Amino acid sequence: MHIHSQKPFDVLIFTVTSLVTCISAITVPTTAPPTASTIDSSQVAVSLEFFAFPGYTELVSTGTCLANLQALRGAPVAVRIGGTTQDRATYDPSLATPVNYTVASSTDAPTSLTFGPSFFTLAASDLKGNVTIGLNRQLNNQMNTLSAALQAKNSMPNLYAIELGNEPDLYASTSPIVPSSGWSQTSDAASEKSWFTAIAPSVGNIFQAAVYLSWRTVATIPLLGTSISNVRSVSEHSYPQSACGGATTDLQTLMSHSGIVSYTAGFKTDADSALAAGLRYFLGETNSATCGGGGISPTFGAALWIVDYVLQGALNGIERSYFHQGTIGDCQYCWWGRFTTGAPFYGAYFVSLFLGTDGAKLEMLDNGTGAVASYVIFDSAGTPVRLLVYNSNYYDGTGTRSSTSVSFTGGGIPSNGVATASRLTGPNATSRVDEDGIVTIGGGGTFDGNCNAVGTQTRENVVVNGGVLTVSVQASEALIIYL
Ligand SMILES: *[C@@H]1O[C@H](CO)[C@@H](O)[C@H](O)[C@H]1NC(C)=O
Ligand SMILES: *[C@@H]1O[C@H](CO)[C@@H](O)[C@H](O)[C@H]1NC(C)=O
Ligand SMILES: *[C@@H]1O[C@H](CO)[C@@H](O)[C@H](O)[C@H]1NC(C)=O
Ligand SMILES: *[C@@H]1O[C@H](CO)[C@@H](O)[C@H](O)[C@H]1NC(C)=O
Repeated sequence: MHIHSQKPFDVLIFTVTSLVTCISAITVPTTAPPTASTIDSSQVAVSLEFFAFPGYTELVSTGTCLANLQALRGAPVAVRIGGTTQDRATYDPSLATPVNYTVASSTDAPTSLTFGPSFFTLAASDLKGNVTIGLNRQLNNQMNTLSAALQAKNSMPNLYAIELGNEPDLYASTSPIVPSSGWSQTSDAASEKSWFTAIAPSVGNIFQAAVYLSWRTVATIPLLGTSISNVRSVSEHSYPQSACGGATTDLQTLMSHSGIVSYTAGFKTDADSALAAGLRYFLGETNSATCGGGGISPTFGAALWIVDYVLQGALNGIERSYFHQGTIGDCQYCWWGRFTTGAPFYGAYFVSLFLGTDGAKLEMLDNGTGAVASYVIFDSAGTPVRLLVYNSNYYDGTGTRSSTSVSFTGGGIPSNGVATASRLTGPNATSRVDEDGIVTIGGGGTFDGNCNAVGTQTRENVVVNGGVLTVSVQASEALIIYL
């Protein structure tokens, strides 16, 4: 049963059986409305933990995964190199290797390390997109950071921005940068300002400011005063859940569309203030749960979270979301490693497939309070080119999997005939590729351990009747419809 409303965004729900819900008559705009959000060519970006970056360049998957995403978007993936260990690192201009450190176990992150000039030549040779480098402020060795910044500037044509310090909101009172008078967002902003002012004459106005986990960037922008002219972008870090110290995580909450809508809306004021100051605004480091991720992080549900989170980020003014990849071999949320391309990468791939090489403007078609999300992407001419439906109803493998039937009318939908669609699915939300859960894109598409696409991605046919296009999407599943 369908009731077709001609009013945009007017959604009616009918329960036909206990397991099939129908959402009727979502009207697709025929042209991008002025409210549609701009999509960056690297809306999906990657962050690599500072000390692990050289190790990542030795993994086949790093190049293959980045190339896969680049092919889908027609532009290279922006990469940020940084994290906790950037604030433990000292530049050694005579070091022959990219990094040097000692750890007790191969899965530990070093408490202190040095890095040499080849760290930057590696970033220049191995990364195709814009690169942001996170340098040290915490150790309060400005001359050392200046010499590293100069080396980066001189050896990296792809250098986009430089961070000075990582998550200064978490600096310990014993940190060398913290004055005896204490540390606050105000004293941090004064410190950022003086460092930008001191280093910009040598490297240019290319700083990525803030780099906060908990402080809000909106309050820092006015505190930077004249040094705002040294800044290119503002970065906030974002982890919806915590896995630190055995904290519990919840996959259903992570995946919830209405939860993602309200969580990402929390960044809008920060993004707006950065854009108003003429700066770009990024989630410069993000992933599902802090401290390398929890049990929810490698799941198919986390892949679905990435799809919705990236799109909601874009709607709230977040121009890029840099998904963090941590210690190789000890990283629940990582997209790839030595052996497996994890389920989360399938989400990054799928949302990139939706954004495509031609995606320019994005609009949400649901009201953000239900479990089922609908989006439309427009090309640069404002023509709707694809729809995406995400059914965030939680299916963990128990009971029968429910399904939602969603109908669309309007822009780009032919009056009769057939459209095509590509589905992202998996056995259930808790499925993990590294535990033999088979997640697929387009029926048979998967990735091998080196991130090569294997199998065949095909498109299913979608019937269009009297100008109404209807698709069925199971709980914990997503679908792209090609208009
Ligand atoms: C590398 O670091 C270790 C300490 O972790 C140090 O003993 C060694 O001398 C360093 N090597 C170089 C070439 O700097
Ligand atoms: C990289 O950044 C520069 C600015 O430094 C910009 O002009 C260029 O288009 C960017 N490249 C990509 C692929 O994003
Ligand atoms: C939003 O959409 C849901 C269905 O997805 C509906 O149940 C709800 O009433 C709508 N809320 C508003 C405020 O329109
Ligand atoms: C969820 O899927 C995985 C396969 O990926 C399976 O091992 C697990 O048993 C399923 N969960 C339930 C409750 O059936």
